[in-house]
Order: sequence, then structure tokens, then C-alpha cells
Amino acid sequence: MARPGIVQRLIQQHAELNRQSLVRRLRLVEQRDGVRARVKGVELLNFCSNDYLGLADHVEVVGALQEAAAHHGLGATASHLVCGHHREHQALEDAVEEWLGYPRALCFGSGYLANLAVIQSLLGRGDICVADKLNHASLIDAVQLAGCEHKRYPHADFEGALRQLKSSPEALAMIATDGVFSMDGDLAPLKMLALLARAENATLYVDDAHGAGVIGPHGRGSAAYAGLGPREVPLNLVTLGKAFGGYGAVLAGSTELIEGVLQSARAYRYTTALPPALAAAGRVAIGLAQKETWRRFKLTALVSRFRRGAQQLGLPLMESLTPIQPLLVGGNSAALFAARELEKRGILVTAIRPPTVPEGRARLRVALSALHGEGDVDRLLSVLGEIFQRLPSDTEKA
Ligand SMILES: Cc1ncc(COP(=O)(O)O)c(C=O)c1O
Repeated sequence: MARPGIVQRLIQQHAELNRQSLVRRLRLVEQRDGVRARVKGVELLNFCSNDYLGLADHVEVVGALQEAAAHHGLGATASHLVCGHHREHQALEDAVEEWLGYPRALCFGSGYLANLAVIQSLLGRGDICVADKLNHASLIDAVQLAGCEHKRYPHADFEGALRQLKSSPEALAMIATDGVFSMDGDLAPLKMLALLARAENATLYVDDAHGAGVIGPHGRGSAAYAGLGPREVPLNLVTLGKAFGGYGAVLAGSTELIEGVLQSARAYRYTTALPPALAAAGRVAIGLAQKETWRRFKLTALVSRFRRGAQQLGLPLMESLTPIQPLLVGGNSAALFAARELEKRGILVTAIRPPTVPEGRARLRVALSALHGEGDVDRLLSVLGEIFQRLPSDTEKA
């Protein structure tokens, strides 16, 4: 039999994706200003960015970026362990330690890299990673890289997590979970997971990409929201690409765990450090998130307004108190139809389809920002009300 070609296989795969309404297309954003985005010359009201606090355009954040770039240049020019660890990285790590109360912190190029680094450096063959079924893809990939056993439990089911721990009582164990689930907006049962971790001598790792800055006292995130601190959550990931409007990530943790990651994480050692200017901008954004409390208050009010309106309209809301307010559609083509209809009416909400979400659970992931106004939310609701009445029945629908 002749050897198949990659392009040939891609053509077949693409046809299959097309059949299932799963082809992804890039959308060119010509300009963005707060929650407005210009696409193909048309200004759209954006409800799908992760700029929850509206800090991406903040004058002080952009100012810090410019000033640091003028001082330190464009890039770090090396990995942290060669000569890429700059003053701005250190200042960012110090700021996160102080904000969250951890003894040590470590900068990463992105949250994706940080997750690869944590799991690969701390777990290996014979160890277990007890993980929520809806964890972010980067945590799933990290387990593969580490070569440890992936013990998944049903979403937010701490009893399931306990069963998984009990099934390997002698294996070294980590419980890894998103703090706020990226496509659902709900929270991990951290209090219970922390109790299990303690009882079973497992290490609890919280990826708080969508909770940091947004929930908890002073925006300290999911662990703080659950009343937990560094003792109960010895590893806590803050990413800078969501509520802080930038790019990069900072892992906060105990001295020993952070040192362990620094010593052996491939995703730390073998990659260029975050540009120092991004570290400076991230530090300023974290400071603003703490200081400008109105952003969180406003978000809370917008979330309530959206949920109230959506309930009145009978929209398929999911259980979430965070700015991530998905509407469960079910089928892929129905979700695409709804997103297209929204765009025709000047509103940008992307359809989220498998494999990002489970089969039959495609959705419109509405994300609110402190820069939205009440009128923006009302406009979204009125268009959604109209579109959901006309949603095609979809054979793939859940
Ligand atoms: C829960 C979660 N963890 C990690 C990441 C990756 O973070 P980054 O975008 O900084 O790579 C994301 C981003 O999509 C996420 O949603």
C-alpha cells in the first residue's frame, strides 16, 4: 500500500470538519477600542474578549509598556536561566507575592507554558494528576508531557476526585483544576478540594486564569474567594492575558515548589523569557486591578443585569456568577447561526464548538467587561431574544 500524504489527509479531515460545522476561520480585527472592534470596516460591540476589567487599553498600563520598552528594548534576549531574567520580571514576581501572600513567584511567557511547566516538572511516571474533566486544554496537554497518570473526575465533583485519589493510595498526587472554568464560567469546589488534598497528602494546583483580578477580595481570585490561602493552595497560577489585558503568566507558590519548577521545567528553561516591557505592564495592571475596585463592582452589576434579562427571555443560561456567561445552544451549526446573526446586527460573540467544549454542548460564550455599559448589555439581550426565537432546530443539538 502506498504511503499516504499529509496534504491528502488534511483534505479529508477538512471535508469532515466542514460536514460537522467545525471549520475554524480567522477574523481580522482591524481596530479595537475598549469593547468596540472593527471587522471588515464595521464596528462591532465585542462580547467575546477576556479583557474583563477593561485594562488592555488603560493609559497607565500602555504607558508602563512604552516606558519599559524604551529602557529595556523589545525582548528579554534569552531564557530566564541564561541572561533573560530582568529587573521588570523580578518586580512583577515581587508584586504577585505581595498581592497573593505567597513566598515565591515565577514569570512565564504564557499560561499555557506555565501549565506545561508545573505538571511536567513536579510529576512523572508512576505519579497521578487528579483533574477536573473540564480543565483547560493546557493542563490536559501538560499531563501528557509529564507522562504521569491522568485521573479525571466528573466536572466539579469532589467526591469523584476523592475516589480517584483513593484508587492510587500510594502514588504521589496532584489535584489540578481551573479556578474559574474558561468555557462555563463556574467555579471549582476549591474548599472541598483543599480538604481532600490535605487528607490525602496531595498538592492542590489552581489555574486561575479567569479568576485572578476578577473575583475574591482585592481581586485575589478563586482561592481567596473560597477563603483559602497559600497553605491550602500551594500553587496558584495568575495569567496576564485575561483580566490584566496583556500577555504572560506568573506562578505563585511555596518556596520549595517554585524552586522545583525552576530547576526542572522544560517550558521554563527552553524558551525566551517574557519581554520585560510586558512584565512591567502586567505589574501595573495588577496594581490597578486592586486599586480601581469600581471595575469589579461594575462587572458584578452587569452580570446580574445580563442574567436577569436572559432569564426573563428564557435564554439557556449556565450556572455562573463570573463575567463568563455562556448560552448553551447544543449543536454546532445552530451555534454558528446564532453567532452570524449577532454579527449581522453589530455584535461579536463567537460560537464555541468541540473540541473546546464537549460534543453536543456548543455555545455562545458571552464575556462581559467593566467597559460595557448597561445599554450595551440591554442591546445584546434584545438581539439574543430575537435570535433564539428563530434558532434552527439542529440535529446535533444536545
Ligand atoms: C484556564 C486557562 N488556563 C490557561 C490558559 C492559557 O493561558 P495563556 O493564554 O496565557 O496561554 C487559558 C487561556 O485560554 C485558560 O483559559
